[in-house]
Amino acid sequence: MKIADLAVPEQVKEIIIKSGIVELYPPQEDAVKAGALEGRNLVLASPTASGKTLVAELCALKHLVEKGGKVVYLTPLRALANEKFDDFKKYAAVTKAGGKRIRVGISTGDFDSTDHWLERYDIIVTTNEKADSLLRHRAKWMEEISLVIADEVHLLNDAERGPTLEVVLARLMQVSPDIQVLALSATINNVGEIAEWLKAEHITTEWRPVTLKEGVLLHDEIQFKDGDARKIEKKTGDSVINLALNTMKSGGQALVFASTRKSAVALAKKFAVQISEALSKPLRRSLEHEAERVLVAGERTRISESLSELVKCGVAFHHAGLGGGHRRLIEDAFREGKLKVLTATPTLAFGVNLPARTVVVQDYRRYEPGYGFYPISVLEYKQMAGRAGRPKYDKTGEALLVAKTGDEASYLMEGYVLARPERIWSRLAVERIMRGHVLATIAADFAHSEEGIYEFFGKTFYAHQYDTSSIKGLIAKILKYLYEEEMIEVSGNDIKATRFGKRVSDLYIDPVSAVVIRDALKEKPACLTELSLLHLIAHTPDMGPILRPFSNEVDELAVFMDEHKEEFLVDVPIEWEDGLGYEQFLGEVKTAMTLNAWIEETSEDQLIERYRVQPGDLYRVIENAKWLLHAMHELAMLFGEKQILPLALGLMQRVDKGVKKELLPIVRLEGVGRVRGRIMFNAGYKTIEDIKHAPIEDLTSLPLIGPRLAKRIKEQVGGFVKTETWKKLDEEDDWKQKALTEY
Ligand SMILES: Nc1ncnc2c1ncn2[C@@H]1O[C@H](COP(=O)(O)OP(=O)(O)OP(=O)(O)O)[C@@H](O)[C@H]1O
Ligand SMILES: [Mg+2]
Repeated sequence: MKIADLAVPEQVKEIIIKSGIVELYPPQEDAVKAGALEGRNLVLASPTASGKTLVAELCALKHLVEKGGKVVYLTPLRALANEKFDDFKKYAAVTKAGGKRIRVGISTGDFDSTDHWLERYDIIVTTNEKADSLLRHRAKWMEEISLVIADEVHLLNDAERGPTLEVVLARLMQVSPDIQVLALSATINNVGEIAEWLKAEHITTEWRPVTLKEGVLLHDEIQFKDGDARKIEKKTGDSVINLALNTMKSGGQALVFASTRKSAVALAKKFAVQISEALSKPLRRSLEHEAERVLVAGERTRISESLSELVKCGVAFHHAGLGGGHRRLIEDAFREGKLKVLTATPTLAFGVNLPARTVVVQDYRRYEPGYGFYPISVLEYKQMAGRAGRPKYDKTGEALLVAKTGDEASYLMEGYVLARPERIWSRLAVERIMRGHVLATIAADFAHSEEGIYEFFGKTFYAHQYDTSSIKGLIAKILKYLYEEEMIEVSGNDIKATRFGKRVSDLYIDPVSAVVIRDALKEKPACLTELSLLHLIAHTPDMGPILRPFSNEVDELAVFMDEHKEEFLVDVPIEWEDGLGYEQFLGEVKTAMTLNAWIEETSEDQLIERYRVQPGDLYRVIENAKWLLHAMHELAMLFGEKQILPLALGLMQRVDKGVKKELLPIVRLEGVGRVRGRIMFNAGYKTIEDIKHAPIEDLTSLPLIGPRLAKRIKEQVGGFVKTETWKKLDEEDDWKQKALTEY
């Protein structure tokens, strides 16, 4: 089926054809035949790289041009939201029903807001969590959504991301019963069941545009699924390195999945020497430049230095311990073909398009503390394997598992390569996850009675798989908790959220976090300090994984805890009575200490050394701390705890920027972060007024401030600058120009 022949507006077809796509892939054709473009609900389950996004694009654009309304595109990860936003942006010139241009927006952050500005957009790309929070706020425009696209819907099976996705879909179907649902999935065993739940047709195909040869690597031989075998050239004693060198020799790139961050880094280091020797001169030069960019993409740390050294060798690692800026740089350099080998944790397993001719799954086992090693699912293996051989980049792809023995090789062949992905199951019925959703159902007016709540949860995938009665006990228990904690009121059959309950739901925090905060604030400790609040937020379940102390830190932490015991807003557990509680508390204190060091302007590198925290985890803790301090501020306001307000607000601003109080006025400037802010402050530029009166040459003479940034600063503060000076600044070429990232 040709794109030109589709019953889709001409302007849309033109854009697609111009992007180089002229014909539909068979799964896309199946989707069209199943009525996806005519408004039918559909679950499209097809292999990786089979072009599911294009079906979504066709569907969304036809929908908007012919019918109007709004389209929301749900993704499980921020990185994927960014990629899909880029995919949709190319349609910005299309005119929709009513004659206006289509607008594409993205929203992934800040949970406590209705984001009225999103109203202007026709296509909104978002994460499942953000969509959930918008629904809790009952953002008016959400009622106009007439098409929802759920990407990676097989992640319903994921304990963390799945429940939010099913609640969001159930709510959207409740808000707009006529909404069209398009769900995109990997091939799984029970597609039919998901389709039944969504009242949709379903299509399952095994077709892939690029042949993906799956197999197992044992020593220097690959055994493929189709019976083929191949020996790889033995250049070193390590088979995976040999394999990567082979791929490189044939002009390809390799993506190697490791099970932990540590092994991703170790693997990258192992590759460096050999890969580096095989690089061409021009590429080496270009990589020098990339390495420089890695160093200036944020504060210089031992991690950015080691990443930068690897990049010079054409190798890099990618995991959640890296900051977003570094991750994007690495993804781009790999996309541009500069990096030859990329090692990654499964953060890169889903949905992304990368030019990996060879994917290596180094370790099929994963470790979970308290649980031990377990083998990954076939579904996850298939997702990782599927990053190889993407149509935009390669004609064929190879995905290989690594075996150490013949027995293991047979196990991997049977258990993964030849195996079919598992059934997926709803993971909703967990108290920790459900309590927020139950409260939101009441607070956002989705139900007003116990019956109504059962009815709503009766529309979830969980109820479809297991029936509602099995979740009733859990809901009843949660309702009792919410009632006792005064988040809901009951009169007769009627259930209503209290002001407290409504605020908690809007703040998108776990009801238990809210109770922890409320009770602690009531205590009014003898000695209220910043540490009190930082520890309190680390004590809530919403902080997520806290920073666990290493064994040699425990003594120091215990001493610190003892010295500061007056300041904590919750009781310190006694070690011999509650060992686990005590250990948890140590971690909370470590998290609070790390946050405190951050706002005392300890450098990122010192934080890494002192607390052994990686940037990615530090940023996650900072993000969560900002959100929880905001929540605390709001709850303190609600309960009239006035003495908390300035402290919480000040902390929130300082945690956001990582600075002492004195730096707050100047770090508000765009381009000025904690490092540059400190340099300016120490040079005597302590206020906006000081900077306004500073000669521009004085600013550019400071370290890390290039002419372009100086100009940007001046533009923000106002003040007189001569025309010739402006001009000269534009012409100057300085290495500092590159360092425009805010830090
Ligand atoms: N009909 C087509 N002709 C040529 N290229 C296409 C066609 N449809 C899609 N593509 C290209 O195929 C690539 C893979 O598409 P896409 O990312 O949508 O795959 P997917 O099915 O979503 O895979 P995954 O399950 O890994 O997310 C993209 O680069 C896309 O531009
Ligand atoms: Mg996809």
